[in-house]
Amino acid sequence: MTEQNYQFPDGFWWGSATSATQIEGAANQYGKGQNIWDHWYNVQPERFYNQVGPEHTSDFYHRYKEDIALMKEFGHNSFRLSISWSRLIPDGIGNVNEEAVSFYNNVIDELIANDIEPFVNLFHFDMPLPMQEIGGWENREVIKMYQQYAKKAFELFGDRVKRWFTFNEPIVPVEGGYLYNFHYPNVVDAKRAIQVAYHTIIAHATAVQTFRELNVTNGKIGIILNLTPSYPRSEHKADQKAAHIADLFFNRSFLDPAVLGEYPEDLINLLKEHDHLPQSEDGDALLIKENTIDILGVNYYQPRRVKAKEYLPNPYSPFMPDWFFDSYEMPGRRMNEYRGWEIYEKGIYDIMINLKENYHNIESFISENGMGVQGEERFLENGQIQDDYRITFIQDHLKWLHQAITEGCNAKGYHLWTTMDNWSWSNAYKNRYGFFSVNIDTMERTPKKSAYWFKQISEQNGFQA
Ligand code: BG6
Repeated sequence: MTEQNYQFPDGFWWGSATSATQIEGAANQYGKGQNIWDHWYNVQPERFYNQVGPEHTSDFYHRYKEDIALMKEFGHNSFRLSISWSRLIPDGIGNVNEEAVSFYNNVIDELIANDIEPFVNLFHFDMPLPMQEIGGWENREVIKMYQQYAKKAFELFGDRVKRWFTFNEPIVPVEGGYLYNFHYPNVVDAKRAIQVAYHTIIAHATAVQTFRELNVTNGKIGIILNLTPSYPRSEHKADQKAAHIADLFFNRSFLDPAVLGEYPEDLINLLKEHDHLPQSEDGDALLIKENTIDILGVNYYQPRRVKAKEYLPNPYSPFMPDWFFDSYEMPGRRMNEYRGWEIYEKGIYDIMINLKENYHNIESFISENGMGVQGEERFLENGQIQDDYRITFIQDHLKWLHQAITEGCNAKGYHLWTTMDNWSWSNAYKNRYGFFSVNIDTMERTPKKSAYWFKQISEQNGFQA
């Protein structure tokens, strides 16, 4: 078979993504306040894989120079980190922690000194505990506090950071914390979940507005969404409808207001019909309309396969999004057997084409994509993880991304999840994703085979395959 040249546009962003709680460590040090993860681990350590909590994350707080040197050596021209709200403002509101200011200043300066563009996200699942104690996103007051936090971050770092993101995967705390019990506060209640999702969008739009009013940077602001294309089992009307509803709940509930400035009519009608509309205030619709984003981060891991519900839901059971569809285990689908997620590279192309056709081809980039592997030590040979499966995974996704760009999609970069193996929420260190393996006893970093491969493609701005 003849090889093809996959050359990416000039200025393409190559790098990887992380989040504060997952990499910093020092969870109870240097003036940081508690967030919901510190708290949940204190009260229910058994909910965390091997009972490992957030204080044992990858020690980036102390090793950021070494990590940035590795990024540089292995071809990063960009890197996503998040700011920990509870490190910057320990009580969630009020005094700023000067040690945190120095830390984030140092990290940002070190990145820039190494020609690595910082992409900064304000919220990656890590609600400060005092904010959760007054209701978290259910309480509209928390939006004002988030706005003050965002404003502070723009003022402090906006002279150097040109790419900002208000939230990472905002649907996940809704699903985890309020629908399916895999995040604190472990509520299972769709009405409350919908209120949380709605307030998150209001918080997002408020931060976008504040960013533009401050005008402290000539930068861009956006949001990072985990888009999961919903594929119906068949052409049958009932399957199509099921997939449409899954798409409304899990993609368009954030994508449409963030990019188009309004909610999909079908979603509003569905919630109305079931008496689940969230409480809103005058002016909300205008706020959303006027504060659409400049840039969209797309996290893509796997699609959602959907079929019509086989039995009608019990009308007395609590309303749940998955009342309306069943997931479909499509025969023959390819799985990442080490994580249990489907591998479907073309999903990345379908997302991009959808953005081109229905979301005015908004500037976007792949903000997370990657392959989690449980028990990755088994691939250790001669002191290095031989992660050929990860190289294939990334390359196959990049081919489809390249195809989308060839067809005019506005995709500007690719970030792997993640830089170094890190702690992941209740999965802790179960699934490894990084370019650099981390010995969790010594915290020593070792580049995997994929890191060397990535360096090459980043330096050549593409590959032949
Ligand atoms: C992404 C999140 O969706 O999934 C990350 O943004 C997370 O924070 C990643 O670490 C992998 O999750 P898991 O459960 O496989 O470790």
